[in-house]
Amino acid sequence: MKTVTTAAELREALAGAPRPVALVPTMGALHAGHEALIAAARGAAGTVVVSLFVNPAQFDDGADLAAYPRDAARDAAVAAAAGVDLLFAPGVEDIYPDGFATTISVGGLAERLEGAQRGAGHFAGVATVVTKLLNLVRPDQAYFGQKDAQQLAVVRRLVADLDLGVEIVGVPTVREVDGLAISSRNVHLRGEDRARATALYAALLAAQAGAQAGERDPEALRETALAALRREHVEPEYVALVDPDTFAPLPALNGRALVAIAARVGAVRLIDNLTINTEVH
Ligand code: PAF
Repeated sequence: MKTVTTAAELREALAGAPRPVALVPTMGALHAGHEALIAAARGAAGTVVVSLFVNPAQFDDGADLAAYPRDAARDAAVAAAAGVDLLFAPGVEDIYPDGFATTISVGGLAERLEGAQRGAGHFAGVATVVTKLLNLVRPDQAYFGQKDAQQLAVVRRLVADLDLGVEIVGVPTVREVDGLAISSRNVHLRGEDRARATALYAALLAAQAGAQAGERDPEALRETALAALRREHVEPEYVALVDPDTFAPLPALNGRALVAIAARVGAVRLIDNLTINTEVH
């Protein structure tokens, strides 16, 4: 595996690289969820590029940015072991040089749930850096985790709206054996909070079971999920049943629905989601 940090080095390393080229954008702190993205890319592409860049523009909170786990040497070892061909690890000055003044802002779905909770800057930061990474690497495919379902939907919207000409591949969420969705933030879960964090997946499964038992009222399913969270004394920021593409609230269940949850467990903000399918009448 080769590591590069600048756009010029990246271009040189990619000249003549076997296609298709796949990009797996990450902020480092690589874990089993990233390894699943890399494995999916490895299975489909001739060249796998992983970008490693903690993007300051998408953090709404300076303390959250400062606390973000960073270990470049470990990330490089994980990426190499996973079969990555090229690691692109730019500095902030490579991505946002002096005078940088452009922001990509996705309307509609980016303003809901995570956009409303974390502020308009969050998805604008994601959309801007993803556009920049896609333009730098020019991949044929880019891989994103379904755990960040709204981010995946925002990226799909962005790529369609701006004709970016890259295939966006969503990869299923990887979970611990007790159901907790794997996330870089899990390392900050302390003591009992680690066990309480499983309440998010339990709540998603409870909503899914309700739908499978025939409940079609989103509010009733939301209440079912809320009850499961409260049994573990977890108070969510939101529990929502939304259209998986637009993230608009659903008046009734008829087809595919995404149940999305955000909650603080101790000091750690967690998100999780599950797509449920109901028959169309
Ligand atoms: O999901 C992430 O790790 C980040 O939001 C991404 C897509 C790498 C953009 O910074």
